[in-house]
Amino acid sequence: MANGKLEGKTALVTGAGGAIGGAIARRFASEGASVCVADLNFDAAKQTVADIEAASADAVACALDVADPAQAEAAVHLTHERFGGPHILVNVAAAPSPRGTVETMALEDFTREITVNLTGYFLMAKYAVSAIRAAGGGSIINIASQLGHIGVPGRPAYCASKGAILQLTRVMAIDHARDNIRVNSISPGAIDTPRSGTQPGAPRLTREQRGKSYLTGRIGRVDEIAAGAAYLASDEASFMTGADLLIDGGFLAFKGTTDDLPARD
Ligand SMILES: NC(=O)c1ccc[n+]([C@@H]2O[C@H](COP(=O)([O-])OP(=O)(O)OC[C@H]3O[C@@H](n4cnc5c(N)ncnc54)[C@H](O)[C@@H]3O)[C@@H](O)[C@H]2O)c1
Repeated sequence: MANGKLEGKTALVTGAGGAIGGAIARRFASEGASVCVADLNFDAAKQTVADIEAASADAVACALDVADPAQAEAAVHLTHERFGGPHILVNVAAAPSPRGTVETMALEDFTREITVNLTGYFLMAKYAVSAIRAAGGGSIINIASQLGHIGVPGRPAYCASKGAILQLTRVMAIDHARDNIRVNSISPGAIDTPRSGTQPGAPRLTREQRGKSYLTGRIGRVDEIAAGAAYLASDEASFMTGADLLIDGGFLAFKGTTDDLPARD
């Protein structure tokens, strides 16, 4: 696309076979970026690439376990070999999130979630920073969560990993400011994806019930997170670093439900 926000840029997006990562990869491609679509689920990554290529943009699929240092390094190399750069890294990949308390949760489940959600972000950045610096600088975006800001029952590993991502982001922004690398996080509210448990057949609250906790009266869409990522990745966000972009439909701004809002005549 001519005059896209990300014309001439290359991006590496992890978890890009998934709902939010896929939307970010497609949006970046529509803004002119060449995208390395990396995911543990290689078939899902290839589907995202097919979507991007169907829109006449450039992408390559990459099989990646972000928890494996050699694979993290290889994903950065693949991006560089195919497209140059990268200028942009988006850490999206997250492990399945088993429920439990610290008493009931198995150590392996806790460790896996922290290793993918937090150490995986560290590893991707570890290998991407030198490439982004060599490309003249760029942007790293870490997908956190509203659950990095507040706690909910039964999610000790998830909430701990997402809270830690907010701090990791700040320190990376400080450490790499002189490299011309901006580092920000995005904290989505509940987004309508299979992970959020709001899809048909999910055993928990319906999307309508959950939407009542949001000032918007609904949970979010993947394109609304992709729009924030496209902004943070682009030069339009040249004064944004070390920040968290909260895209949560007002969830954290009020305690109540939309039933509590004053009526309008
Ligand atoms: N969906 C929501 O409501 C919501 C809300 C807040 C934050 N988030 C965050 O947004 C991100 C994406 O969420 P989503 O709803 O798109 O989930 P998703 O499950 O659709 O996508 C996650 C992707 O990560 C991949 N993945 C898992 N382990 C991996 C590994 N070790 N290496 C590489 N890839 C791996 C999966 O294969 C999957 O494609 C996550 O970081 C999640 O915590 C989601």
